[in-house]
Amino acid sequence: MPLVPMKQILDEAAKKSYGVPHFNVNNMEQAQAIMRSASEVESPVIMAASRGALKYTDLIFIKHLMMACIEKYPKIPVAMHLDHGNGLESVKTAISLGFTSVMMDGSLKEDAKTPTTFDENVKVTKSCVDYAHKVGVTVEGELGTLGGIEDGVGSGQVHLTDPNQVKEFLQKTGVDALAVAIGTSHGAYKFKIKPDPDKNLLAMDVIRKIHSMVPKLHMVMHGSSSVPQELIAQINKNGGKIAPTFGVPLWAIKEGIAAGVRKVNVDTDLRLASTAAIRKVFYESPEKFDPREYLGPARDAMAALVKERYVAFGSAGHAFDYEPATLEDMKKFY
Ligand code: G3H
Ligand code: 13P
Ligand code: ZN
Repeated sequence: MPLVPMKQILDEAAKKSYGVPHFNVNNMEQAQAIMRSASEVESPVIMAASRGALKYTDLIFIKHLMMACIEKYPKIPVAMHLDHGNGLESVKTAISLGFTSVMMDGSLKEDAKTPTTFDENVKVTKSCVDYAHKVGVTVEGELGTLGGIEDGVGSGQVHLTDPNQVKEFLQKTGVDALAVAIGTSHGAYKFKIKPDPDKNLLAMDVIRKIHSMVPKLHMVMHGSSSVPQELIAQINKNGGKIAPTFGVPLWAIKEGIAAGVRKVNVDTDLRLASTAAIRKVFYESPEKFDPREYLGPARDAMAALVKERYVAFGSAGHAFDYEPATLEDMKKFY
């Protein structure tokens, strides 16, 4: 199966009301973990590279990693997505590599830190939609800003999405999916207290309101790692120093999916899973120095986590529900 436009994966998810995890990729072990588990549970895949990942992999390595994924797993639908594009140039770069989906994060200026005005957001996002749709590529936009600055993406200020701006943003930009800010943040340090259903740490009402106003919109939840406590414990037991912290619980993500979220972004959890596995090997077997002996367990740990997410978000079992669309099909559609 070729790479598919992300819009198809999200449209199909909407038909059956499930969510699809977006996993960030920076290296071979992550890509293998994501694909191996997708194949085992028969899930479609959204694999994402941030601008940092493009730099880290020197562009050409991420391109061929993506080609290896579809060659090794020809039956699994895979969308290759640019995470947090910061302008038309980054979008063009991703499309030139063969990505089938891009995010233009126009909620922030090109520095990926300073919040923009609504009009600035519309302008830059529309320019990316015009460019991407001509070649059949899906576009995700963002309205509102997340908290968190530790990964270099984010203003540190939370501005929840205003549901009353959504229709106008969609009309003016033509995006296929929209990231909404509901109080999550990137990175491991999301909440100091354990979220429970009574604390209202996340603005689920924003998601529900948007869904009631624009039921066909594919919403995206960023900053949705769950920060499993057992991984934090394993890291700290083996010499790590992660301060107490909590992530977005799976029950909250499921609530979002029930209210129209179709894409759920997860990066930090894979970082935690691999670090926990590597630290365990280093701590328990200090004589080991073959990278395969610690990157292999890291890959297995990520595969286990990824599999849990495919099942929890409901995408497991849906890889073969549909015939793959092509970018040519999408060009005609737009
Ligand atoms: O949204 C941010 C992702 O977690 C990517 O992080 O820029 O460190 O690759 P990164
Ligand atoms: P986490 O840091 O919660 O994994 O969020 C990742 C993300 O939103 C990537 O765009
Ligand atoms: Zn994000």
